[in-house]
Amino acid sequence: MGVEIQVNDLTKSFGKQLIWGDVTLTVPAGEICVMLGPSGTGKSVFLKTLIGLLKPDKGSIIIEGTDIASCPERELYEIRKLFGVLFQDGAMFGSMNLYDNVAFPLREHTRKSESEVRDVVMEKMDLVGLLGAEDKLPGEISGGMRKRAGLARALVLDPEIVLFDEPDSGLDPVRTAFLNQLIVDLNAQIDATFLIVTHDINTARTVPDNIGLLYHRHLAMFGPREQLLSSEEPVVRQFLNAQRVGPIGMSEEKDADELAAEAGQELPPLPPIPLQLDPSNGIPRRSQRPAGEWCREHGVTPPPGSFESSNAGLAPGA
Ligand SMILES: Nc1ncnc2c1ncn2[C@@H]1O[C@H](COP(=O)(O)OP(=O)(O)O)[C@@H](O)[C@H]1O
Ligand SMILES: [Mg+2]
Repeated sequence: MGVEIQVNDLTKSFGKQLIWGDVTLTVPAGEICVMLGPSGTGKSVFLKTLIGLLKPDKGSIIIEGTDIASCPERELYEIRKLFGVLFQDGAMFGSMNLYDNVAFPLREHTRKSESEVRDVVMEKMDLVGLLGAEDKLPGEISGGMRKRAGLARALVLDPEIVLFDEPDSGLDPVRTAFLNQLIVDLNAQIDATFLIVTHDINTARTVPDNIGLLYHRHLAMFGPREQLLSSEEPVVRQFLNAQRVGPIGMSEEKDADELAAEAGQELPPLPPIPLQLDPSNGIPRRSQRPAGEWCREHGVTPPPGSFESSNAGLAPGA
């Protein structure tokens, strides 16, 4: 079914360094959300805070009625069982083959017999398309396979929430396209809540139901995919369309002089909104909305050419 995550007024700093403040958003049950942001904006810190690995300075994270930002360790331990996490590098044990890596959480957290463990491991390996690779070591396989093995391991305890930390980092565009399709198919199949952290705009444009953007120590915007892809808000517009003109500079936000130099520059038109990826396994996703529905409901005219199948998956400007 998936469960909702309600984040209220969340603030996190390390010492004097504020990472982000006053983050408020709801990750709806069963939906796919993407959290975007330039490198170093605290996306990984956000995920670690959601699973209670890092404590926020203030604010709450409500999951099934429990505030995991303030609950006792015992309760946190129980709530964590709802989560499956795909860490950025796959976080595989290098000396264990894929089978043992994927079996690890089952052997640690359940009392399943080895034959029950085997059934679950093989089922999840099949789900991610890795049947037959059980005996391989993580070092012997490609980055894309390692991500999928990490995903199989994230799924073995049948999570209600799956967090992905840059599943597409280090993958070529074709492997990224396969992985994105796998993510959509899995969402249809297991019906859990998915939160994907990435800075890949093609993933953000085609995969999720909702998009958030972390920028300059706050949440710049969070809402339905069509809302952000049709937004004229400068930061959102610049990031989602990979443009140089806008408040985001080479390494930090642009200063006043740089912004003044840009004033009056004609912005390129917003690219068409692509169709959202459909599941390829024939299972409908519960949360998928018809193309253009949000725009119609909100009286927003989408950029010309939006929702045409010829645009599906194309990067802006492509
Ligand atoms: N455990 C930690 N202690 C101190 N600073 C940290 C810690 N973890 C992350 N940071 C800092 O938080 C900032 C955001 O990091 P991170 O979440 O990894 O960014 P992103 O995932 O968006 O690239 C960085 O400046 C990083 O140095
Ligand atoms: Mg990160």
